[in-house]
Amino acid sequence: MLLNKDMITEIKHPVIARDLTILRDKNTDTAHFRLALSRISTILAYNALTNIKLTEKKVVTPIQETIGFEIEPEIIVVPILRAGLGLVDAITTFVPDARVGHLGMYRDEETKKPVDYYVNIPNGIENALVLVVDPMLATGGSACDAISFLKSKGANQIRFICLISAPEGIRKVQELHPDVPVITAAIDECLNNDKFIVPGLGDAGDRIFGTSR
Ligand code: PRP
Repeated sequence: MLLNKDMITEIKHPVIARDLTILRDKNTDTAHFRLALSRISTILAYNALTNIKLTEKKVVTPIQETIGFEIEPEIIVVPILRAGLGLVDAITTFVPDARVGHLGMYRDEETKKPVDYYVNIPNGIENALVLVVDPMLATGGSACDAISFLKSKGANQIRFICLISAPEGIRKVQELHPDVPVITAAIDECLNNDKFIVPGLGDAGDRIFGTSR
């Protein structure tokens, strides 16, 4: 199946190119990794909010009344734990009142399949724009399970935001969830035999939180 380019936004920007290089470098320390992640995820969040509905509202400036706008849909952010936590602040930078749901999943190292371990999703998800965030889209197993779960709870407007994606993962999302746009900073080459993204950046969770396997 060919990728549906209409449902993929790969953000190209010199700052992203520079920051991806910092993230990919295996010698980047935790502090600089976090700073680069913060910058890229803010750009991704800004772009993920493109085309959201606005409602007109009156605003009174010091000079006169005029028409302004407010964001119409409620925004709910759902990070896929743990690494997705690193992208939550980027969304709340633009939508400070966004509610946050949590989906705990890790990828079993043997089977390469996602395993659920924690769920806490706000009510009212059926009326919200749901932004699912995770730095990595590798096989797509975690993303697809997360999206399926959120749909089973009533979510019907979902966007998926990730730093680095593999074509295999995007393809899986598009096969199972063709309605879900993917916003990413890079589409890498492929997955290796261990299902890591190539060239990728390694294990995002370990690098954000300073842990190691
Ligand atoms: C990583 C990553 C995604 C998932 C991607 O999480 O953050 O959640 O793997 O792989 P997939 O597309 O093949 O499902 P990991 O299992 O390392 O857990 P962590 O966030 O706790 O580090």
